[in-house]
Amino acid sequence: MPRGKFITLEGGEGVGKSTNLRFITDWMRSRDVEFIQTREPGGTPLAEQLRALLLENRDETVDPTAELLMVFAARAQHLAEVIKPALERGAWVICDRFTDATYAYQGGGRGLNRALIAQLEQTVQGELRPDRVLLLDLDPEVGLSRAAATGAADRFESEKLEFFHKVRDAYLARASAVPERYAVVNAALPIEEVQRQLAAELERLLDQP
Ligand code: TMP
Repeated sequence: MPRGKFITLEGGEGVGKSTNLRFITDWMRSRDVEFIQTREPGGTPLAEQLRALLLENRDETVDPTAELLMVFAARAQHLAEVIKPALERGAWVICDRFTDATYAYQGGGRGLNRALIAQLEQTVQGELRPDRVLLLDLDPEVGLSRAAATGAADRFESEKLEFFHKVRDAYLARASAVPERYAVVNAALPIEEVQRQLAAELERLLDQP
């Protein structure tokens, strides 16, 4: 049984991840691809508890390294309990955010050293990397005004515009460093065009051995 494909969906706030996730999972069903849909931080009971701790607004300033370690603690659990077993039985995994979000938010946004993130990535994931990262790219000013319409801001959403510019720049820097693993989709385009591009990427993956 060949290993399943590992696809992650990334982007800043308000880029349309939820709508496009629904499109992607509908596409998988239409192609009879066996898959699981999951998210980070989260995806297991323990990792979801860590997610709640990470997103909660609090009076105490959260130390960036503490934040980074919590993200990777959740990821280790998620990989062991959900992602690796699914890939090993041949199922595809579609994950709402993964380690690129760590490079973007903790690396770009918080300014943590990329080498430290790379070290933890190696320790927690070994050689496992997504087969394809679908990056929805959008000017953070547009994204934040879209996200503001969807309810109360969590600890990340409460960050300033400058933080989200750094997040976007870090995502784009990763995409241009390893272009074969990334598909950057301009999320400012009409939704039909965004989804046409996502479908084309998924078709390419389906054709790959
Ligand atoms: P979301 O999945 O609803 O977009 O929220 C998850 C939040 O967690 C989002 O603001 C980005 C943040 N995050 C990190 O800071 N680092 C990470 O590694 C991941 C996966 C998410």
